[in-house]
Amino acid sequence: MILGIGTDLCNIERIERTLDRFGDRFRNRVFTETEQRKAERRADTPGTYAKRWAAKEACSKALGTGLRMGIAWKDMAVTNLRTGQPVMHVTGWAAERLKEMTPPGHTATIHVTLTDDHPWAQAFVVIEALPAADADGAG
Ligand SMILES: CC(C)(COP(=O)(O)OP(=O)(O)OC[C@H]1O[C@@H](n2cnc3c(N)ncnc32)[C@H](O)[C@@H]1OP(=O)(O)O)[C@@H](O)C(=O)NCCC(=O)NCCS
Repeated sequence: MILGIGTDLCNIERIERTLDRFGDRFRNRVFTETEQRKAERRADTPGTYAKRWAAKEACSKALGTGLRMGIAWKDMAVTNLRTGQPVMHVTGWAAERLKEMTPPGHTATIHVTLTDDHPWAQAFVVIEALPAADADGAG
């Protein structure tokens, strides 16, 4: 069953201006080391950050919390498989929230997809719950 969906559209130029203005203060508040490493070695650094910003906003919507003051942005983080496919990881408050919304006997999976076409970066997140036996591949 679907537990939540979220989407976000992020302006890459706004992220670029924020990076110029606040530098590491912004980077370190919002993005994990893995996210920063990926973005900084890319030709399109602001675009890479903007996709991950959109992913965090979309994930907060799918978790049903939306954006709150004092939100720990790094508790929603994107990595990439070797194929390039993005994967969303939740820790801290976001993992707690995911646990709360997952029905007993189920395992939750977060699906994320990203795209960008200057000046826009976009993310969709879908949270799915599967019966635990199915999720383990045993059902
Ligand atoms: C996936 C692909 C269609 C993306 O197309 P694109 O128009 O260049 O880029 P978009 O802006 O629409 O999307 C980029 C995002 O797609 C996602 N993506 C990349 N590869 C993906 C894959 N295999 N599956 C799902 N999503 C993927 C990533 O999140 C990427 O953003 P990120 O690298 O910042 O995380 C393109 O990269 C492709 O065809 N790749 C072929 C697979 C490949 O080359 N793999 C190399 C390693 S085996």
